[in-house]
Amino acid sequence: MAEKREDARAVRTYFEGGGVSFDTFYDGRRGALVRWLDRKFRYDVLDRFRIAFNAFGDLRGKTFLDVGCGSGPYVVEALRRGASRVVGVDLSGTMLALAREKVAAMGMTACVELVQADFASWEPGERFDAAVVMGVMDYVGDAATFMRKVANATSARAAVSFPSISWWRSPIRRVRYLVKRCPLYLYDRRRVEAAVEGCGARDVEIIKIPGAGMDYVVLLDFE
Ligand SMILES: C[S@@+](CC[C@H](N)C(=O)[O-])C[C@H]1O[C@@H](n2cnc3c(N)ncnc32)[C@H](O)[C@@H]1O
Repeated sequence: MAEKREDARAVRTYFEGGGVSFDTFYDGRRGALVRWLDRKFRYDVLDRFRIAFNAFGDLRGKTFLDVGCGSGPYVVEALRRGASRVVGVDLSGTMLALAREKVAAMGMTACVELVQADFASWEPGERFDAAVVMGVMDYVGDAATFMRKVANATSARAAVSFPSISWWRSPIRRVRYLVKRCPLYLYDRRRVEAAVEGCGARDVEIIKIPGAGMDYVVLLDFE
C-alpha cells in the first residue's frame, strides 16, 4: 500500500514537470529532429489513438472515461465524436490544466469533468460506455487490480495500452526513468494476458503494434 502511494507520488512529480512536453507530440510543436525521432521510434502513440477510436466507433450520446487523460487528446477526440459526457482522471494538475484549456477552447466545459486523482483509489460512482487507458500502464505496479477497476467502471468497451519490452530500447528507457526517479513497468504478451485475465471481459483482443518496444493495445468488450 505504502509502495503504491510512493509510486503515485513519483509519477505525479514526473508528469507535473518534464512530462508536460509529452503534450507537444500530438500537435507537432516540436523541433525537426524530435519530430523525426517521434516518427521513427514513437509512432505507437498515434497508432494506439487510431486503434482505440476505430474500436469505439460512433460515440454520439455515449459516456467516456479517460484514465490518465494527460493533456486531453482523447478527451477532445471523444467530444468531437459526439460523446455526451467525458470524465478524465489524472494525477498531474499540470496535465489537467492543459486538458482544461482545450476543452474550454471547444466551448464544451459543461460536458466534461476533469479530476485530479490516482485512478487506483478513485471512486467513479458510475459506469461509462467507453474507457481508454493510454500510456498509463507504464506506471502501474499492480496491473491486474488496476484492470479490474477499469472493468468495473466500463459497460461496453475499453482500450488499454501496455508498453512492450525491447532488448535494446528498454534498458535505455529504464535508465532514463531511474534518473528521473519515476517507476516504470514493461510487459511481454504473457504479462498483458495476466493483467486482463480476471477482469471479466467477454472478449479480449491483444494487438501488438509492429516494431521494437512498441505498445500492445488491448481491446476489451464487456457487452
Ligand atoms: C504518457 S501520459 C499519457 C496521457 C494520455 N493518456 C495520452 O495518451 O496522451 C500518462 C498520464 O497518465 C497519468 N497517470 C499515471 N498513472 C496514473 C494513475 N494511477 N492515476 C491517474 N493518472 C495517472 C500521468 O499523470 C500522465 O498524465
